[in-house]
Amino acid sequence: MTLDADAERRALRTKLEKLELAISAVIDPIVWVDAQGRIEWFSAPFRRLVEKADTELLGAMLLTVLPLEERGQLLPEGAHPVLRALHGQPNAMGHYEFRRSDRTAILEILAARVQVSKQELSTVVAIRDVTERKQAEELVKRLAAAATLSAEAERRRAAELDKAYQELKETQAMLVQAEKMAAVGQLASGIAHEVKNPLGIILQGVSYLELEITPEQGKLHEVLQMMKEAVRRSDKIVRDLLNFSRQAPLVSKPEDMATVINDALNLVEKQLTLKDITVTRAYAPNLPAVLIDDNQMKQVLINIILNALHAMPNGGELTLRLFLKQLDQGQPGVGRRTSDVFKLGQTVLVCEIADTGTGIPEDVLGKVFDPFFTTKPAGEGTGLGLAITREIVERHRGRIEIASQKGRGTTLKITLPIYEAPA
Ligand SMILES: Nc1ncnc2c1ncn2[C@@H]1O[C@H](COP(=O)(O)OP(=O)(O)OP(=O)(O)O)[C@@H](O)[C@H]1O
Ligand SMILES: [Mg+2]
Repeated sequence: MTLDADAERRALRTKLEKLELAISAVIDPIVWVDAQGRIEWFSAPFRRLVEKADTELLGAMLLTVLPLEERGQLLPEGAHPVLRALHGQPNAMGHYEFRRSDRTAILEILAARVQVSKQELSTVVAIRDVTERKQAEELVKRLAAAATLSAEAERRRAAELDKAYQELKETQAMLVQAEKMAAVGQLASGIAHEVKNPLGIILQGVSYLELEITPEQGKLHEVLQMMKEAVRRSDKIVRDLLNFSRQAPLVSKPEDMATVINDALNLVEKQLTLKDITVTRAYAPNLPAVLIDDNQMKQVLINIILNALHAMPNGGELTLRLFLKQLDQGQPGVGRRTSDVFKLGQTVLVCEIADTGTGIPEDVLGKVFDPFFTTKPAGEGTGLGLAITREIVERHRGRIEIASQKGRGTTLKITLPIYEAPA
């Protein structure tokens, strides 16, 4: 009997030892504490975690053996999961820092109350070292943030590249346009010179014949008048061509733009009233002067006004506006590039000439400044008006833009730098 009981006890002890070994081998640190928070039992991994000898642990207060921190600050006593469990919270858990001699570990702690027997209430504390997992999470978070950052930088670089490409395209288009103008100019002046003298001879001949014919030869007189008219038209074209190619030097003075516009209007006043076109002038008061060649600027205005007139065969409204504007980004030709006509923040004078005419279809709008582009029937337009206009404006260091809506009307906008008197 005694022998059997002894054997049984030994077998039980072996079983318990095995269980303890198993718990220590495969399970995270575990501690039992009594109702006062004193350590009753612990597994080997717990001892290794807190770096203490068995004798220092058994019966010691867990709070002292396992002081916990949160973001480097010692946890207030009441917040310790063991105390919370002892005070009645069934499952107190959380993540805390624990300072070891070699490193600060991050621990996931679960303190659970266990009713051992009717009288005995004890608390089991399961601890898991999650330092590596937390560090990995932290690393993933940082990597994700870095990835977002680099994606943002990538996007910004792409946007910059896109902008540079657009600028390059604009500059190239400008160069092509300048090339085209130069080529056309050379060709035109060559032809114009050849044609100018014969035209003069024809005109002289016609004038001579006019003197020679008798009043009875009325039919002949009519033919001669037609010839004279044709020669005059040809002569005008030749002069236009020469103007366009010769680039008469600018004779610039500070001028009041409103006066220049009014002068130009006076020259075409009769045609405007004939066509039943009302003219509205909206000039801002006290405008500063602009440095311009007033004759050439008048030619610009007349070209534009005549186009407007042709676009309103049944009458309409012609509005001339003059105002100052401070340039901001996002406007074409404004910026820091050398190809930009204007600087950011520069104050300029804007002259707008708006008609309520036929308007220009979108596919045509891009061509109207091209030399010899015209939609007018042969004999009515050479297509040089706007080409010359643009040349002149650009030589004044200005800019000309056109906006149009088919059926609604067209607005030409000339932007000029204002004159600043030398200090
Ligand atoms: N205000 C306007 N409304 C409608 N179309 C216009 C206007 N201004 C210009 N255009 C269009 O642009 C074309 C080119 O104009 P541009 O002044 O260069 O030549 P043009 O008037 O045809 O001939 P010209 O050499 O006699 O001026 C015109 O033929 C017309 O189609
Ligand atoms: Mg014209």
